[in-house]
Amino acid sequence: MFQKNKSLRSLNTFGIAATARQFSEVTSCMELKEIVSQQKKLFILSGGSNILLTQDIDIPVIYLNTKGIEILDKNNGTVLVKVEAGENWHEFVCWCLENNFGGLENLSLIPGNVGTSPMQNIGAYGVEIKDCFESLEALEISSGDIRTFTAEDCAFGYRESVFKNKLKGQFIILNVTFKLSTKDHKINADYGAIRDELRANKVSEPGINDISKAVIAIRQSKLPDPNEIGNSGSFFKNPVIPLTHFQKLQKRDPKMPYYRLSDKLIKVPAGWLVEKCGLKGKRIGDAGVHDKQALVLVNHNNAKGKDILALAKMVQKAVSDEFEIDLEMEVNII
Ligand code: EPU
Repeated sequence: MFQKNKSLRSLNTFGIAATARQFSEVTSCMELKEIVSQQKKLFILSGGSNILLTQDIDIPVIYLNTKGIEILDKNNGTVLVKVEAGENWHEFVCWCLENNFGGLENLSLIPGNVGTSPMQNIGAYGVEIKDCFESLEALEISSGDIRTFTAEDCAFGYRESVFKNKLKGQFIILNVTFKLSTKDHKINADYGAIRDELRANKVSEPGINDISKAVIAIRQSKLPDPNEIGNSGSFFKNPVIPLTHFQKLQKRDPKMPYYRLSDKLIKVPAGWLVEKCGLKGKRIGDAGVHDKQALVLVNHNNAKGKDILALAKMVQKAVSDEFEIDLEMEVNII
């Protein structure tokens, strides 16, 4: 059942050539339950879009590739759709658009699979999955039981959930159920870049397909395609700093972009901070800072996970020295 010494290069979007000592692809929940009943120490790999592999993996690697989309209920303008963990995220978003189901269009073209989307509450252009989340089922590794989680149980935050914190490593997400609209869709076009894109395309009353098209165009103009150049999207989270600290920085640089979270807290774009440190497009060997979006680190070809990590630490130090802000990594370092 297990393959030996399998290269994971094509299974992580950074394209890092780490090896799994033992590897098994799982396509059904039954198979997964069987493995979990015998082996508790496992590395669960799904879309591989939010990990940086800095070493080979000695514990068995399970590649979760379960498929299936099911409509559970449809009434009063909403639909409940249950999706298996191994479904590709963007293909699922396209399926929603084909069926005229609204809610996830702002999240078009995000790499990765459905099962990992709640882990870090994926978000983009004014929407997070928590906004359309109904529930999920997850397998508890210690007991082999399947548990249902509501949005409250998941404790979603900015790129956060209970699965990255209190329950880290304890559950495997099997499927996610989304609550989507079937008519009178709520359109989220407030994000500046979306507004600009719609205006440029002369779309005045956008539907969900227009939003998706706009998001795809914006992402393609800024974010590198993992099929062309290895990356994991935003490598760092946007930091939240006290208003007093922000005011000091704003005096130095009145054009600094920001987002007010509360009376006392300000979120600032990490990409801007990194760019201001002169690191946009910086390259050390094959590890690089993307030249169009400084929040994204890239593997130009043969970088090792350790090379990317060293660059990430250099970026953190530069931002800390220049702005006294600690950048937190968003990507899971393995
Ligand atoms: N900016 C720069 N230089 C850069 C990058 C950004 O000055 O190199 C400035 C932009 O001009 C803009 C601001 O920073 O004023 C924000 O930039 P952008 O709209 O590109 O968004 P972001 O804050 O850098 C976040 C998410 C992205 C998400 C976009 C759109 C995080 C960590 N990242 O990026 O998510 O697509 O907003 O909502 O919150 C991801 O998580 O992998 C990801 C790509």
